[in-house]
Amino acid sequence: MRAHAWSKGCLQGQVAVVTGAAQGIGRTISEQLAYTGVNLMLADLSEEKLDKLRGELTSEYGIDCAHFVGDLSNESTVKELGHRARAELGPVDILVNCAGGGVILPFLEHTAETLKQTVDRNLWTVIWCTREFIPDMRDRKYGRVINLGADSVRNGLPDHAGYNAAKGGVHGLTTGLAREFARYGVTVNTVAPCAVATPQLAHFLESQPELAQKFIDVIPLGRAGELDEIASAVIYLALPEASFITGQVLSVNGGSTML
Ligand SMILES: NC(=O)c1ccc[n+]([C@@H]2O[C@H](COP(=O)([O-])OP(=O)(O)OC[C@H]3O[C@@H](n4cnc5c(N)ncnc54)[C@H](O)[C@@H]3O)[C@@H](O)[C@H]2O)c1
Repeated sequence: MRAHAWSKGCLQGQVAVVTGAAQGIGRTISEQLAYTGVNLMLADLSEEKLDKLRGELTSEYGIDCAHFVGDLSNESTVKELGHRARAELGPVDILVNCAGGGVILPFLEHTAETLKQTVDRNLWTVIWCTREFIPDMRDRKYGRVINLGADSVRNGLPDHAGYNAAKGGVHGLTTGLAREFARYGVTVNTVAPCAVATPQLAHFLESQPELAQKFIDVIPLGRAGELDEIASAVIYLALPEASFITGQVLSVNGGSTML
């Protein structure tokens, strides 16, 4: 992990739920939050990966850390997550809606199933998790909701229409919820990455080099984002110091869209 602009333990005692925590961006966000001293509920589909991460974060940072396995596109599963998080860690201050992932296909090559998967993973997870955790934030007059959106919503990347429909929904929720909950001290923002250096991108560059290269070519900085570069933006928005930022979609994109 890189050095940070914030100090170790600066959020000691706060509680965060991170969805999609098992790998990639969500895992890195969890590591960075653990560094700030936040107690964590890690949620995802993979028991093995979550259990391993929980062990690592607990021993390295001495935080309270629990994990929850389940499909967060189901309302009843998310209710169970809410119950577990409150019972094991207490009221939640920070919700990071990171579960998601694209099914990247030309629009007409999608099937009903792949479209449904895309919307389930990227939009329903955010809707149900936000509905589960934002009422406590409202009642306690403090909260941070940070979603992972996508810069492709802004630049219309090739083969991203289905994915953008779902992530565009997340961007739309962000502004609406920010206005609705501002009066309660709850901020709602979205971090929108361009292509990120994950194993999936490496695989994509091998299996469909021409298409994958287009995702890099739109980035003026000439490379994919690093996991820590995306996670750092999320952590900043989770800090009390980010209290005057709400309803924003912050592109972390090497300049691939500007303004
Ligand atoms: N990697 C990129 O290039 C990129 C670019 C823009 C946006 N994003 C977004 O950032 C987020 C993280 O991306 P990543 O590259 O780390 O993805 P990833 O696929 O490596 O990780 C996503 C995690 O979400 C989990 N997940 C998906 N659906 C779920 C569900 N229904 N219930 C519970 N967990 C579920 C997966 O199991 C997985 O562990 C995603 O929302 C993604 O859409 C990624």
